Amino acid sequence: DWTPQSFVEETVDELKSKLGNDKVVLGLSGGVDSSVAAMLLHKAIGKNLYCIFVNNGLLRKNEFHDVLEQYKGMGLNVKGVDASARFLDALAGLSDPEQKRKAIGRVFIEVFDDEAHEITDVKWLAQGTIYPDVIESVSATGGPSATIKSHHNVGGLPDFMKLKVVEPLKALFKDEVRRVGASMGMDKALLGRHPFPGPGLAIRILGDITAEKVRILQEVDAVFIGNLKKYDLYDSVWQAGAILLPVNSVGVMGDERTYEKCVALRAVESTDGMTADWVNLPYEFLQKTSNEIINKVKGVNRVVYDISSKPPATIEWE
Ligand code: XMP
Repeated sequence: DWTPQSFVEETVDELKSKLGNDKVVLGLSGGVDSSVAAMLLHKAIGKNLYCIFVNNGLLRKNEFHDVLEQYKGMGLNVKGVDASARFLDALAGLSDPEQKRKAIGRVFIEVFDDEAHEITDVKWLAQGTIYPDVIESVSATGGPSATIKSHHNVGGLPDFMKLKVVEPLKALFKDEVRRVGASMGMDKALLGRHPFPGPGLAIRILGDITAEKVRILQEVDAVFIGNLKKYDLYDSVWQAGAILLPVNSVGVMGDERTYEKCVALRAVESTDGMTADWVNLPYEFLQKTSNEIINKVKGVNRVVYDISSKPPATIEWE
């Protein structure tokens, strides 16, 4: 019978004999899959696992710092690479969703390739691919593996992609990955994180991207997600986030007329991201969250809640 414990034991043994003394590079995304894959490899080969966590500047507020610290606390050999400026440069002036995705994928590969070159004699590329990813090419979990997969047919292969590939979670479903992580003592909060798209906030800022828009959306998102946790709603929601609309509307603040940005909040229930229903969040929660966003986040004077299901709407707006 399959148990998380037996899976861990068998997989660690297999990884040990397969990898021996070889060095392995792995891109961490902050998500469940890459984190659990890293822990398994860490158990098997320790310091020979070289993890790379890239800040594309489009992560949630404080995420790069907090998650990097968490990884270090788990004993992982991880290098944080802040490439925010490189990503923002590549995105400047782009407003088409697919062009934004392509630019992010391209820069990610460049940054990852540069970093992989720093590791002498690396032989393997580890990925947190899970069973549903094998079937589908765009992973709902996002992150490096998804980015790499959806771009590996473009042009010549970057050097790191000529490495041998090891994918310890390839036969597992998401809930099994979570159970494997839990059996290795991984943090519940890390294992229960909502999926987050590889291109991050770039596809939640409709239209072109600037550092200021990223900052505004990070603040709004932090209030929304913070409140979901505070009011114990986070775990009953499959995915949630805020979207910065390319819309200004009129408001009043004291005696002043304002003309500022509108944000949409989205929270969905789903099992696999293929279909989704909007979540019936309590009015009181929405009221508090809206007030807090408008009071705290300069540049936003209106909040709306997305009540569209997938299909026909998608979870992301881009
Ligand atoms: P949609 O918007 O298609 O999203 O309903 C379904 C799931 O996929 C995630 N998503 C992405 N993940 N790269 C990713 O790694 C992407 O370009 C991407 N687009 C959407 C989305 O967050 C949801 O979980």
